[in-house]
Amino acid sequence: MFEAVLFDLDGVITDTAEYHYQAWKALADRLDVEIDRTFNEKLKGVSREDSLRLILEHGGQTELYSEDEFHAFAKDKNDFYVESIQAFSADDIYPGILPLLNDLKKNNIKIALASASKNGPFLLERMGLTDYFDAIADPAAVKKGKPAPDLFLLAAEKIDAEIENCLGIEDAQAGIIAIQSAGALPIGVGSVEDLGEGISLVSDTSKLSYAYLIEEWQKTRA
Ligand code: BG6
Ligand code: MG
Repeated sequence: MFEAVLFDLDGVITDTAEYHYQAWKALADRLDVEIDRTFNEKLKGVSREDSLRLILEHGGQTELYSEDEFHAFAKDKNDFYVESIQAFSADDIYPGILPLLNDLKKNNIKIALASASKNGPFLLERMGLTDYFDAIADPAAVKKGKPAPDLFLLAAEKIDAEIENCLGIEDAQAGIIAIQSAGALPIGVGSVEDLGEGISLVSDTSKLSYAYLIEEWQKTRA
């Protein structure tokens, strides 16, 4: 059996993936770079700075701005985003997540957060979820962000779990690759088109349950 579940946050625990998109879209419009939801799939799970690099690259503007301007753009995006999540509460937790967290706790399965977002702890607090988490992996503490395995490895280490005995839940391509290369078992939230074939997938979080995780674990790891 698995001993721990490593959760992504944005797009798994709550709908913040959409708010990140709206904030990037506002900045991209200002910079005259066209982005759409298909392009946005590449930004999911990716750090703030790497996302901005991808957007500038997409618009052919990599060489256009100084380091100071780059950091100012990243700050503007974050200010827009932070403003949009101020009113988050327990009402914003995705369906199925709270019962899953409760069942994991009841069964002594450890829970850790492996989110690339520096706003993760704030959001957990707003949604009243902080106490469910045995550890939060700090994205600022790892050298490489997703799709590198570092953040998932750090999350497992912080709860003293063997990474091979962990499940990781993700809605982003970068996150699924990170979980796989760390050596944990990925569970995707989303579509085959976005996340690819050959992994356990649910179309939305209401389909996630402790029983489902056990079933998927037994299918692939037993
Ligand atoms: C990830 C999101 O969880 O966190 C990305 O999927 C986001 O869209 C990244 O860029 C970093 O978030 P933040 O809040 O630190 O800018
Ligand atoms: Mg995500």
